[in-house]
Amino acid sequence: MTGHVVVTGGRGAIGAAVCEDLHQAGMTVTAVDVSPVRTALPFQQLIGDVRDLDAMTAALYGVDAVVHCGGLPSDRKGHEYDTYDINVAGTCTLLLAAARAEVRRVVHLSSINALGCVGAGVPAYLPVDDDHPHAPISPYQLSKHLAEEACRQFANSQHATAICLRPTYVIHPGDPARTGPGPADLYAYVDIRDVVHAVRLALHADLTGFHAALLAADDLWGGHQLDTVLAREYLDIPWRGGETPRSTLVNCSRARSLLGWTPTSV
Ligand SMILES: NC(=O)c1ccc[n+]([C@@H]2O[C@H](COP(=O)([O-])OP(=O)(O)OC[C@H]3O[C@@H](n4cnc5c(N)ncnc54)[C@H](O)[C@@H]3O)[C@@H](O)[C@H]2O)c1
Repeated sequence: MTGHVVVTGGRGAIGAAVCEDLHQAGMTVTAVDVSPVRTALPFQQLIGDVRDLDAMTAALYGVDAVVHCGGLPSDRKGHEYDTYDINVAGTCTLLLAAARAEVRRVVHLSSINALGCVGAGVPAYLPVDDDHPHAPISPYQLSKHLAEEACRQFANSQHATAICLRPTYVIHPGDPARTGPGPADLYAYVDIRDVVHAVRLALHADLTGFHAALLAADDLWGGHQLDTVLAREYLDIPWRGGETPRSTLVNCSRARSLLGWTPTSV
């Protein structure tokens, strides 16, 4: 596999795993982050802020694609302005830089939160799919929704490709610090290795225009059974999943059909 990819947020949990994977796959990788990456790595690292148009434009000249993982990954009280500034203005600025540098493909790490159906939000129906209406409630959810719209505008105006991946709760094997998703997260999770695989597929998929795809494992977190949690937690929410198969509350058929993605890691 060849090509030069810039990964924003290359120091972060997802960005670092993406950099490592793409480098191992033989691609030229440049990691961009406001903080230096933690260890010496065999690819280029740039200290840079996605809100810095000149720096991002310079970083993107001559590259084949951008994977945008940089930003704030959750709501944090007191950080509402930063959430809008980094996640929304930062994404718009990065996309403007990509347009100026004539980059033809952007893979954006969006989130199921763009739909507003987790956390304080309530799904309009289950299982949630990529056609679920957007109804953001929190600042983070609004930022993910608006960043997706910025990606749509980039794809439309540049006749380019923008693929928004919508991971559910990302699990890092061997990381005991994370408690895992609960009822407000629809018990939906995805292994970091499957997220990284989706990024690689999105970089090479034969697609143009704007696309978005949810990413979730094929089972519920914590060994919960679907029929039990449906009866216990989500009785008032219409079920649109048919009779079978009934295993999760998130429908990832878009990722399967568009990218050929299936969750494999357990
Ligand atoms: N972790 C999850 O469970 C999860 C789930 C769904 C979606 N996502 C999305 O994936 C993306 C990455 O999440 P993560 O878990 O790796 O988060 P993270 O906090 O581990 O990494 C984010 C990285 O972005 C960098 N960053 C912050 N502001 C920046 C700026 N202005 N310019 C450049 N870099 C900047 C940070 O330094 C950090 O290294 C986020 O957009 C998040 O919304 C994460």
